[in-house]
Amino acid sequence: IRMVLIGPPGAGKGTQAPNLVERFKVCHLATGDMLRSQVAQKTALGLEAKKIMDQGGLVSDDIMVNMIKNELTTNPACKNGFILDGFPRTIPQAEKLDQMLAERGTPLQKAVELQVDDELLVSRITGRLVHPASGRSYHKIFNPPKKEMTDDVTGEPLVQRSDDNADALKKRLAAYHQQTEPIVDFYKKTGIWAGVDASQPPQTVCTSILKCLGQA
Ligand code: AP5
Ligand code: ZN
Repeated sequence: IRMVLIGPPGAGKGTQAPNLVERFKVCHLATGDMLRSQVAQKTALGLEAKKIMDQGGLVSDDIMVNMIKNELTTNPACKNGFILDGFPRTIPQAEKLDQMLAERGTPLQKAVELQVDDELLVSRITGRLVHPASGRSYHKIFNPPKKEMTDDVTGEPLVQRSDDNADALKKRLAAYHQQTEPIVDFYKKTGIWAGVDASQPPQTVCTSILKCLGQA
């Protein structure tokens, strides 16, 4: 499968992607995770991106398009297809992606929008815990790890993201509505859009996504 998960901060993109990866044996390209890995490695790009991310803004289209292009070209896990999470996030990114995939003869098959009202996102984001190395996310109340503050798979500690505070979240939501939501119409026009009620429990959301893909 070649698909995009679209949704505001806390919609559940990172929560749902691993289910799809396991089912379809494709790669999960999460641009936020890639940027956070650059931040952790203190690369020049990471240092620049951290300022923008902590303020809830968007990193430049050129940087993001190149990052995805590079992964799609070199990551062997992407041979069977991919789940894009957090990309594209602007109309120019969506256009560049279409162009890039058209050149390869592997067009996008589905763009699934995870729909959740803003009010619910605040409690999801402020309760989130993440395992930095894998990008796995948990929630203090909605999806607690088996052992407090510990990743189920590796036993390593969980942390809070530096942009998961009320201030940055407000800006991330504004950026979503202004710059990302227009890509919903973009994909409606090309006929590959599907919307899912993502306010439901994770398992229900998973089933709804599989239905959109004709798999449930
Ligand atoms: P990114 O990492 O993509 O952040 P985001 O879009 O704000 O999305 P989140 O990761 O916050 O939400 P999610 O949908 O993955 O939710 P999750 O599944 O974890 O980007 C970070 C930053 O990087 C951006 O702000 C920007 O600066 C930059 N960036 C990244 N990509 C870029 C691009 N293409 N262009 C420019 N800049 C870019 O779930 C959230 C919480 O809710 C968890 O605790 C989870 O356990 C819980 N939860 C999930 N589903 C449910 C459910 N169904 N019921 C109850 N709880 C649930
Ligand atoms: Zn995420």
